[in-house]
Amino acid sequence: MAKLIDGHAIAEKVYVDLRHEIADLKSKGVTPGLAVILVGDNPASRTYVRSKDKMCRELGLHSMKFELPATTTQVELLARVQELNHDPAIHGILVQSPPPKQIDEAAIVRALDPRKDVDGFHPENIAKLALGDPTGLVPCTPLGVQRLLIESKIEIDGAHVVVLGRSMIVGKPLALLLMQKNKNANATVTVAHSRSRDLEKITRSADILIAAIGRANFVRAQHVCDGAVVIDVGINRVKDAVSERGYRLVGDVAFDEVATKASAITPVPGGVGPMTIAMLMSNTVKACRQFGRGGSPEPTANANPARID
Ligand code: GUN
Repeated sequence: MAKLIDGHAIAEKVYVDLRHEIADLKSKGVTPGLAVILVGDNPASRTYVRSKDKMCRELGLHSMKFELPATTTQVELLARVQELNHDPAIHGILVQSPPPKQIDEAAIVRALDPRKDVDGFHPENIAKLALGDPTGLVPCTPLGVQRLLIESKIEIDGAHVVVLGRSMIVGKPLALLLMQKNKNANATVTVAHSRSRDLEKITRSADILIAAIGRANFVRAQHVCDGAVVIDVGINRVKDAVSERGYRLVGDVAFDEVATKASAITPVPGGVGPMTIAMLMSNTVKACRQFGRGGSPEPTANANPARID
C-alpha cells in the first residue's frame, strides 16, 4: 500500500518559513500585499479565492479581494489591473481563472506587471522559467508539486516524470520546471495528453506520474507501474446525493486501486491543493522581496542573466 503524501503537513512547513520572512519584511516596514480578482460567480473559483484571502489574513499579509460581476467588461478589468499595477501596497496580483467568456484572459495576463504576476502566467515569467532565470515567478501548482516531492524525499533527479496534461496552468510549466538543470529537477520529462497514442504504455514507464487532465478518476491501476509515485493535481466535483453539498471532490486518479500499486500517492483533497495556496503566499513574499520597498520602476529582467544549458 502506498505511503500517503500529506499536503497539509508540508504546506504547514512552508508557512513556518514564510512567517519568519514576513516578520523580517515587516520589521523593515514592508508588508507583502496580494490582490485577488474574481470575475463572475463560478462556485469553485469563489471557494478558491476565499481560501487565498483567508490564508493571507492568517499570515498577516495585506490582502485585497475583488469580487466583480459576471458582466464586467475587458476595459473595466484592465482598468482594475492597471490600478493594482501602480499600487505600492500590492506586490502580487492574481486574476482567478477561468473568467467569463467576454474576457480575453491572455490580454489580461499580458497587462499585469510581470513583477507582480504571482501566478507566473505572464510571457516574461514563462520565458524566465524556460531560461532557468531564478528572478522569475513560477506558477503555483507546479511549484507546489515540486515542493511536495522534495519534502517527501522522492528523488526527481534522473527520474522519468510523466505529466498527464498540457495546460498553461499546470502541465507545460511543470514540465519546464522539472527538466531544469538543478538538483531539485534534472528529470526526464514526458508530457502526455488527450491525443497521445499508447497512453498506458507511456504512463506505465513513469517513475513519477503527475495527473493534471481534469477528468475524474481517469488514471486507473493499469496506467501505473508497481512502485511509482503518483501525484494527483485534479480537483473534480462529482455529484453525491449523500453529501450535504450535493457533490464531493475527487482527483484525476482512481485513488483506491492506484494506491495498491504506487509507492507514494497524494490524496484529493489534502494533497496538491494546500500546496498551491502555500506557493501563492510564497510567490507574494518573493515578489515583495524582489520589488517591494517602493520598488525600482524598471523591470528587473537583466538583473540576473539567464544561464542557457
Ligand atoms: N484557476 C485554477 N487554478 C488557478 C491558478 O493557479 N491561478 C489562477 N489565477 N486561476 C486558477
